Amino acid sequence: MCGIVGYAGENNAAPILLDGLEKLEYRGYDSAGLATIGKSGIDIIKAKGRLAALKERTENGKLMQGTVGLGHTRWATHGKPSDENSHPHTGGNGRVAIVHNGIIENYNEIKEMLKNRGRSFYSETDTEVAAQLIDYCYKGNILEAVAEAVREMRGSYALGVMCSEEPETLIAVKCRAPLIVAYTENGNMFASDVTAVLKYTKEITYLDDDEIAVITKTDAEFYTPFLDKLSKKRELTKLDVSAADKGGFEHYMLKEITEQPEAVRRTTEKFIKNSRVDLSEVLPEAFARKIGKIFIVACGSSYHVGMAAKYNIEKLARTPTEVVYASEFRYSDPLVDKASLVILISQSGETADTLEALREAKRLGAETLSVVNVKGSSIAKASEHVIYTKAGPEIAVATTKAYSAQLAVMALIALYLADLRGTVSSEEYSVIVSELEALPEKLERIIKNRADIQYPAYRYFNNEKLFFIGRNTDYALSLEGSLKLKEISYMHSEAYAAGELKHGTISLIEEGTPVIAVVTCRRLAEKTVSNASEVRARGARVMTVTAESMRSLVEHESDDVITVPDTHEALMPSVSVVPLQLFAYYIALYRGCDIDKPRNLAKSVTVE
Ligand code: F6R
Repeated sequence: MCGIVGYAGENNAAPILLDGLEKLEYRGYDSAGLATIGKSGIDIIKAKGRLAALKERTENGKLMQGTVGLGHTRWATHGKPSDENSHPHTGGNGRVAIVHNGIIENYNEIKEMLKNRGRSFYSETDTEVAAQLIDYCYKGNILEAVAEAVREMRGSYALGVMCSEEPETLIAVKCRAPLIVAYTENGNMFASDVTAVLKYTKEITYLDDDEIAVITKTDAEFYTPFLDKLSKKRELTKLDVSAADKGGFEHYMLKEITEQPEAVRRTTEKFIKNSRVDLSEVLPEAFARKIGKIFIVACGSSYHVGMAAKYNIEKLARTPTEVVYASEFRYSDPLVDKASLVILISQSGETADTLEALREAKRLGAETLSVVNVKGSSIAKASEHVIYTKAGPEIAVATTKAYSAQLAVMALIALYLADLRGTVSSEEYSVIVSELEALPEKLERIIKNRADIQYPAYRYFNNEKLFFIGRNTDYALSLEGSLKLKEISYMHSEAYAAGELKHGTISLIEEGTPVIAVVTCRRLAEKTVSNASEVRARGARVMTVTAESMRSLVEHESDDVITVPDTHEALMPSVSVVPLQLFAYYIALYRGCDIDKPRNLAKSVTVE
């Protein structure tokens, strides 16, 4: 949500900032803007809509002079998307300009205070309030002014600040929103994430909360809000510049779908040694043995991973598991205690609801384990234990490869616990481990044959609504298939536990209504096929997703059948999610949607 870039160096800043913003587009935004310091002070150009509009307005940055600058993509929170509400915002008649990601919770209070001292405001944003506050605190030293303002502000935010009276300096602040500092050959940068700077450097400093960076062409220094100097280490990121480009694919989403075999391989290989799953490094054995209850807390697709994992953990490890939306967890007075393990799943590691749920779980005394894709993210830092999914940067708003990597981690957890607790037979354990190892190759097969999904998608793309049905893990998968379809193709869809359909929703089935039946649990196949036959009897057109060996069980009640390679039941969600992702992708393609950047959505949801 929102992207921030700053550059202080030898080159013209605007083209570098535009390039960085392009890499951050995936975070979601509805307007963009740039500020540079030229000979006559701070120059600002902004534009509502896509980055292309800003590029056009600035002639790809050429119209803006100056080697020090800030860039921003905004996802509206306070005030509608408009040129006026876009960032950068200024204070003190343009003396200070800032870009901001996140929310300043006490902005109304600060606004009133500043109004009483004669300041007036031109926008509805909390960002302008921060700019005015910084300018109000300015007494000849921009670092001191920012530090004083930060001590007044509450909320979760990242800021980039410049001041016309100190034209060589940029200030960046991190407070519960992501921010990194990067060192390039021709200057220094800061950004919301590494992808924005990969083209120029791999040398990074990850900021912690409540840290302020002072960045010039030659240097970066770090301070607390009380101006104590900090020493921070520089790290070399392993990510490659290709991680942030499309690699010849039409969309990031398709590229990322094809990267799933590698994402799963990289994520799991570290934890499988000599055909044994060993998570002792991240989940100490003594604790794992005595866990009383597991809570899986997450949002959106990560929540759907939790749903699938619940079935596996309960079945294999016989440990009671509850899956809770992060936004509900902290307000539900959860029955969490010292014997509870709270697992937080988050691709970005910055989702505000998940982060707050984590804090609540810790406050209640639970042990916390996060499954996170972004190194150094807030959730990873705040959890006692972390397992990183190694999916690499995910740029498309709709998650695919991170989802698959999360599913694989959750299968590892289920198996590790089952082994320690003696609830799985050695035969079944060995089958699951070897199937986990074989997973990347099975995913590759599905991806290679993706035309098998493209053709049926063409038959369905004109429909207005669609239903998904499934039982147990197939239900969890139905929820994910439905979310994927809705978010990128804007086709309305609902996912139902197959047995529930006839308790109301079946009244929505009409002649030609498409229903996708996910039937991969062999022991439940007959039941779901009966539900498919109930909707077919009412005119529905049924497409069934099933395992190769189960085709004959479903064929008679399906209009289309998509098969995936067989694997152990616990891992079926990992293979069957791929056709559902591809189905959503092709439907969105035929409907002419903006697949990588669906309307209204942000990749990293840093507001509650
Ligand atoms: C859907 C999607 C979202 C995220 C959700 C949680 O494709 O990407 O539903 O899964 O916003 O985000 P993370 O996993 O970053 O906490």
